[in-house]
Amino acid sequence: IAPKSRIAVYKVCSEDSCSVSDILAGIDAAVEDGVDVISISIGGDPVPYHEDAIAIGAFGAIENGVLFSASGGNNGPTDSTISNVAPWITTVGASTIDRRFPADLVLGDGSVITGSSLYKGDGLSKGKYLPLIYAGNASNSKIDNATCLPGTLNKDLVSGKIVLCDRGDGPRIEKAEVVREAGGVGLVLANVEPLGEGLVADAFLIPGLAITQSKRTTVLQYMKSTKNPKATFIFKGTQLGVKPAPVVASFSSRGPNSISPSVLKPDIIAPGVNILAAWPDGVPPTEVAADKRRTEFNIISGTSMSCPHVSGVAALLKGAHPDWSPAMIKSALMTTAYADDHDGKTLLDEKDNSVSSVFGFGAGHVDPNKAVDPGLVYDLTVDDYLNFLCASNFNTGQIEVISRRKVSCSGVQQVNMWDLNYPSISVSFDTSAPSKSEVVVNRTVTYVGDGDSNYTVNITNPKGVTVAVDQEKLVFKKKGQKQSYMVRILSEKVGLHHNYSGSESGCLVWTDGKHQVTSPIVVTWS
Ligand SMILES: *[C@@H]1O[C@H](CO)[C@@H](O)[C@H](O)[C@H]1NC(C)=O
Ligand SMILES: *[C@@H]1O[C@H](CO)[C@@H](O)[C@H](O)[C@H]1NC(C)=O
Ligand SMILES: *[C@@H]1O[C@H](CO)[C@@H](O)[C@H](O)[C@H]1NC(C)=O
Ligand SMILES: *[C@@H]1O[C@H](CO)[C@@H](O)[C@H](O)[C@H]1NC(C)=O
Ligand SMILES: *[C@@H]1O[C@H](CO)[C@@H](O)[C@H](O)[C@H]1NC(C)=O
Ligand SMILES: *[C@@H]1O[C@H](CO)[C@@H](O)[C@H](O)[C@H]1NC(C)=O
Repeated sequence: IAPKSRIAVYKVCSEDSCSVSDILAGIDAAVEDGVDVISISIGGDPVPYHEDAIAIGAFGAIENGVLFSASGGNNGPTDSTISNVAPWITTVGASTIDRRFPADLVLGDGSVITGSSLYKGDGLSKGKYLPLIYAGNASNSKIDNATCLPGTLNKDLVSGKIVLCDRGDGPRIEKAEVVREAGGVGLVLANVEPLGEGLVADAFLIPGLAITQSKRTTVLQYMKSTKNPKATFIFKGTQLGVKPAPVVASFSSRGPNSISPSVLKPDIIAPGVNILAAWPDGVPPTEVAADKRRTEFNIISGTSMSCPHVSGVAALLKGAHPDWSPAMIKSALMTTAYADDHDGKTLLDEKDNSVSSVFGFGAGHVDPNKAVDPGLVYDLTVDDYLNFLCASNFNTGQIEVISRRKVSCSGVQQVNMWDLNYPSISVSFDTSAPSKSEVVVNRTVTYVGDGDSNYTVNITNPKGVTVAVDQEKLVFKKKGQKQSYMVRILSEKVGLHHNYSGSESGCLVWTDGKHQVTSPIVVTWS
């Protein structure tokens, strides 16, 4: 993304783990070395910030003007899985791109199921059908008997056959090796609940492909319908111009933010499915010992791939605007992101091809060209984050662990959590609260354009609320000028059941005709 950037790499993981002390030491060393951006594709389950080495390290980075970009995790599509959620972190989810690697599974009854594969070796000879067997009917194991874990397949049953393995425990790609060792000649790797319709491409060692959860059902039905199920593969290489794209990746971890509900996460999404990525010389592309192939590049999927895209864009923005704080860079990334795909439709969700939501894509998909000229930004200082932590009921001792400084909450100006000057807005109402309840949210924008400019507001109300802004127009005379406004969010639940609990989203856009400064608004009744 930023080809002329210089990269410093800090080793904080060994083969088995990434210890928290190493992570924190690595982040601190990078900050001390004067880096501009930290990109970290590491994360665990979301935990309170004072127990989270990445959140603590990131606080120190932000304090020193270093933008901190982190992967949001691959635990989607389950709700509330998003990780690295501290408001001073830029949290990145994953989307597909318009390139894929299709491969067809042709069943004995002639039906064709399109899956995904990077298999590049000798295929089955053209038109040669082989017997197909379900691992769940060919296992020595009583538990987890369909997931092709090492040593579980019955050689007598799978020898010479294509084996359908369910995803689940164990790495995807290892299952091809398990099938090969048991004498199997092909792999169909099937998504199971909740993985849904998302596919990634793997460089299987034997002919193999991945299929979606709904296609798994189709294949199993076929297998049950015939005495001698059989199938063959057709590998199709690379396909470009795929539509729709981008789509929120099924595996991308989802909001809501389980630690700070008033901060919408993920912040942003970026390409994270089937990404061309550098690969170490000594490691086979499948990481399986029997794989003798070596490659300088591999195709990899995960928020570990999407995060560095955003880190790279942040580095470009830092180059274009050396005086911008990390919060200004993050704001520019978020307020210019897009929530529509290349066909102009709201981004879909790969889990079931339904319309996605802000809990999948946050502010939207990163747009580098727009981010360099955002018009207005929402800036934040260390004091703002400390006030936020005080308002969030972290105690002084915990805040001191996070910030590594002496802190007193009694002295600070009383604020609400949702008044953190964030580029998105997230508020909650009690489901049982009176039918008309109101939350007031304060925001301050900084003008980063040239000359003078007038911004007007355009609001799309989330269902069930009316959003009003106290300023119709913000007038700016010169770069750096700040203007504050107040957002009143009135919950009347019009169009919703009076007992409704759940979330609805809309947006607030400031525009001068040239720039669209967009903030998602999410309202939750719980
Ligand atoms: C395979 O596992 C499933 C679910 O754990 C179980 O219901 C089934 O009986 C097992 N089958 C065999 C043959 O052990
Ligand atoms: C698994 O084996 C059982 C018993 O032979 C059979 O009824 C069933 O159809 C098989 N399932 C599949 C998916 O082949
Ligand atoms: C929000 O803005 C209003 C109007 O400026 C002000 O009265 C109120 O004190 C602000 N709240 C906070 C927490 O800053
Ligand atoms: C902004 O609005 C003021 C009136 O409030 C007007 O005098 C000025 O020309 C406008 N500036 C631009 C750039 O439109
Ligand atoms: C406000 O936003 C809506 C929805 O995006 C759009 O249709 C409308 O044209 C916008 N209005 C103005 C004045 O920009
Ligand atoms: C709505 O809430 C009331 C009070 O809690 C409860 O008695 C009622 O059954 C709820 N109705 C529905 C449709 O959930």
